[in-house]
Order: sequence, then C-alpha cells, then structure tokens
Amino acid sequence: MRYILEKLYLKNSITREELLYLLDNLEEKYRNELYRLAYNTTLKTYGNRIFVRGLLEFTNYCRNNCKYCGLRRGNTKVERYRLSREEIFESLEEGNKLGYKTFVLQGGEDPYYTDEILADIIKDIKTRYKDVAVTLSIGERSRESYEKLYNAGADRFLLRHETATKEMYDSLHEGMSLEHRIECLNNLKEIGYQVGAGFIVGLPGETNEALADNLLFLKRLEPAMVGIGPFISHPDTPLWGFKNGSVETTLTMISLTRLLLPNALIPATTALNTLSSEGLEKGILAGANVVMLNLSPIEARRKYELYKGKEITDIHQLKKIEERARKVNFKVDMGRGDHINYKERIKNV
Ligand code: 5AD
Ligand code: SF4
Repeated sequence: MRYILEKLYLKNSITREELLYLLDNLEEKYRNELYRLAYNTTLKTYGNRIFVRGLLEFTNYCRNNCKYCGLRRGNTKVERYRLSREEIFESLEEGNKLGYKTFVLQGGEDPYYTDEILADIIKDIKTRYKDVAVTLSIGERSRESYEKLYNAGADRFLLRHETATKEMYDSLHEGMSLEHRIECLNNLKEIGYQVGAGFIVGLPGETNEALADNLLFLKRLEPAMVGIGPFISHPDTPLWGFKNGSVETTLTMISLTRLLLPNALIPATTALNTLSSEGLEKGILAGANVVMLNLSPIEARRKYELYKGKEITDIHQLKKIEERARKVNFKVDMGRGDHINYKERIKNV
C-alpha cells in the first residue's frame, strides 16, 4: 500500500491491479494518508486557492431519461421552466456585480435552445463582460453545434461521463450510449474547449471495478475539470429507495483523481455538500479546489431538482465560503481559474 501511495504521489500513475488492491484494502490510516497527499498536490499545482463559479440553471426541460435524475423526461411531476434571454442576463448581471469571472450555463438537453439562440447569448456575454469565461453544461450535441458555440466564445464544457462501465451506462441511460458520450468528449477536446468529465459515486450496482473503470478512463481522457458527486436518490425516479452514495467514497475518488491528474480543476460538488454539512471543507482536504455557487432566479432553483434536498449555496454567500475555506487554510480566488495547461497554451500563442 505504501508503495502504491508513493507512486501515485510521485508519478501520478497507477495500474489497474494496484488500483483494485488499493480500493479493496483502504483502511482508515491509508485513506487519511491519501487525502493528505491529494491536498498537498493541490497546493503544489494551484496553491491554497479555491476558485468560484457562478452557476445558472437556465432550463430544466430534458429530452433524456437518465434513471437517477429528477429532470428526466419521464418525471411528469416536475414543473418545467425556461429562462428568457432577459432573465438570463438579469441573473448574470448580479454575478458580474459581485465579481464572478466564470459563468456556467447549465440545463437539461433542451432542443428549444438552438445553436443560434445560444451562440447569440454567448457572444453577448463575452462582449458585455470582459475577461469572463463561459462554461456550457448542456449535454450531447453534434460536433458542428459544439463548434458553433466555441466560435461564439464558449471556453469550457462540462459533460460528465457518469459511469465508464458499459453495462451500467446502458442500463441507466435509455436510448443513449457510452460510445457516443465519449465521442462527444473527444469532439469537445479537439475543438479546443477546456473539458470537464466526471461520474456519480454509489450508483446501484457499483463495484470497486466500476470505480477503477472511472478513474482509469479519466486518466486516459485527461480532462481539464472533473466533477464527482455521490448519488442521491430522488422520489420521482426509478431509483427511488436505492441507497445514497457514500461521502467517504466520494472523497476517496476526489483524492485519487487529484493524484492521477494533478492539474485538474475539481469541484467540491453540490451533491457532496448536500450529503455532508462539511462537504466543502472535506472536499478541499481531499483535493478539490473549485466551488460552484448558484445564481439562478429563486423560483427556478426549486424546480431544478436533480435529486432531493439539494443544498444550494448562493453567489451572495461568498463570505460564508471564505470562512469555511479558511478553516482548511484555503482562500477564495475570484479569478477565471483556467486549467494550468490551457493557461500556458494561451500564453504561448
Ligand atoms: N444524484 C447525484 N447526481 C445526479 N446528477 C443527476 N441526478 C443525480 C442524482 N440523483 C448529476 C449528473 C449530471 C449532473 C448535472 O448531476 O451527474 O451530470
Ligand atoms: Fe437530462 Fe442531465 Fe438529468 Fe440526464 S442527468 S435526465 S441528461 S438533466
């Protein structure tokens, strides 16, 4: 175990066999050691800074039917909404006043928002707010669509792979495929986006093999950002009643991701904060260095229910975030927080 931990820390690599051994034998003292090595790695790459993002959930319509998600099209109980262009800018203006430099536009897969509508909004954001990064989180689209939105000024794209185990992926995502998901991720990368992947911890049927699949997939893909959160059961989905994912396993996955991809931007996710009152602090101590704060209009928040009891931290609660980060010796950084390799590329051109 010591050898594996040392190799992770010094070489940022691990074989499948070593990873399975580690996951099967991770006693508490080793787990704590793993957190510590991951935290030290963040200090070496980005320093003791937590980057903040403003998250705008602009539509909760979705054409997909992911079994775990409260926004799935099969859920007829959810009140659907779409924000107008004006509502979107009203919210972003708030964030801009507070000094946010990254806006994440997130939504279900909603065909109402055509490339034209989105490109127009993105261009407008980039001209109104200088030096702001635009992150999209709007699911699977064609390569042409991704290109148009990139050319309109979008900088980053979040598309979690959700699970890298084919059988699990297929049984959770009716009408979708892991191959297509990966094709989308590769397209996004090739186009030039800073890409975010990631997975849900504790989905029904998950094994250590599945966790290993996820981590090794991330190591191969080398995304700029990785979102990892525990599964939280939602009453109006087919997965209601299944056990929630574990906070401890989520933290372990964050640490392993930090060690395998030292330069990744890793959020302490909303789902982690929902299951643990100290999710942010624990996340940072395990290797996270990003937090996404909500800037959606109040009425929209309640309706954007991916899972039950979603813990919302608002863009106005920066003070609280600062205090919590201070407890683990971190400071809030209001900069764009680009991925280190991309920053170097920007400098080189
Ligand atoms: N529990 C945890 N995470 C979920 N997501 C969707 N539904 C759930 C759930 N019930 C995650 C998915 C998606 C992200 C926006 O939210 O990973 O990519
Ligand atoms: Fe739609 Fe995303 Fe929910 Fe799947 S996880 S149903 S794609 S909003």
